[in-house]
Amino acid sequence: MTHPHIYFTKLADIYGNVFSVRLGGEKMVFVSGYRMVKEAIVTQAENFVDRPYNAINDRLYSGDSGGLFSSSGETWKRQRRFALSTLRSFGLGKGTMEQSICEESRHLQEEIEKEKDKVQAEIDRVIGQIQLPRMADRPNLPYTDAVIHEIQRMGNIVPLNLVRMAAKDTTLGGYVIPKGTSLLPNLTSVLFDKTEWETPDTFNPRHFLDAEGKFVKRDAFLPFSAGKRVCLGEGLAKMELFLFLVGLLQKLSFSVPDGVELSTEGVTGLTLVPHSFNVYTKAR
Ligand code: HEM
Repeated sequence: MTHPHIYFTKLADIYGNVFSVRLGGEKMVFVSGYRMVKEAIVTQAENFVDRPYNAINDRLYSGDSGGLFSSSGETWKRQRRFALSTLRSFGLGKGTMEQSICEESRHLQEEIEKEKDKVQAEIDRVIGQIQLPRMADRPNLPYTDAVIHEIQRMGNIVPLNLVRMAAKDTTLGGYVIPKGTSLLPNLTSVLFDKTEWETPDTFNPRHFLDAEGKFVKRDAFLPFSAGKRVCLGEGLAKMELFLFLVGLLQKLSFSVPDGVELSTEGVTGLTLVPHSFNVYTKAR
């Protein structure tokens, strides 16, 4: 069965970058491709800042307008400010958070391993196998950084993004979008946009490297979405991905048992997660 995010991305090839689908009694406007998604959530940030009403949330939060993920208007602004300041006082960006992620990563190091490859060669050369990785090492590990970005591009865990709602009457791609319309800025269509990526359907860390092998940021790299409602945990998630992956590959080698086929197809749940599979791990 085709996953919904792939299906809706293919529909854009037929119906264009702004089309609507009736889901039950609700009309949902799908926005596709880097340019149009950016127009909606960055250029028109104020116009699409809200989330639509959701009956499940209404029950869960009994009458209040929902938690940070689903609230709108003043409630959302208050909750977002509070969550941001809580994350900051937790130590994000100050070292305390980095330290606790390093400790967790050390435990994981004892469990997993992968074949020596270019990432391990770079890690060995730059920080060796003894010293724990730090965020300050990232600029010196461009290949590793590019691999992490390419994994997130091809294996994004929130492929369809979260639904937004028009906070005002507006237009998008020449279409009138009335206040209250649900809108889905499809992230798969951005992360696989043929006009943005050299080899959109192939795993290729070179997407994030220049000719000299230096790391380059790409505008269409939006797994955390963008604009006023961009993922609140982006900094924390990036820190975890870097420290865990480097920590694991520093100490362990991974291999796939004979006959096991790995796949980037995920299982749809609250987020897209990989199918479970067995790997061999070996201390290096
Ligand atoms: C690889 C990991 C992650 C990915 C790919 C991801 C992706 C996303 C995406 C696509 C959105 C929707 C943004 C929008 O509406 O435009 C989002 C929202 C959000 N994320 Fe994440 N996320 C990740 C990890 C985290 C973590 C670790 C936290 C917690 C610290 C977090 C907290 C949030 C919150 C609170 C929102 C709602 C923000 C709002 O509505 O104002 N995320 N995330």
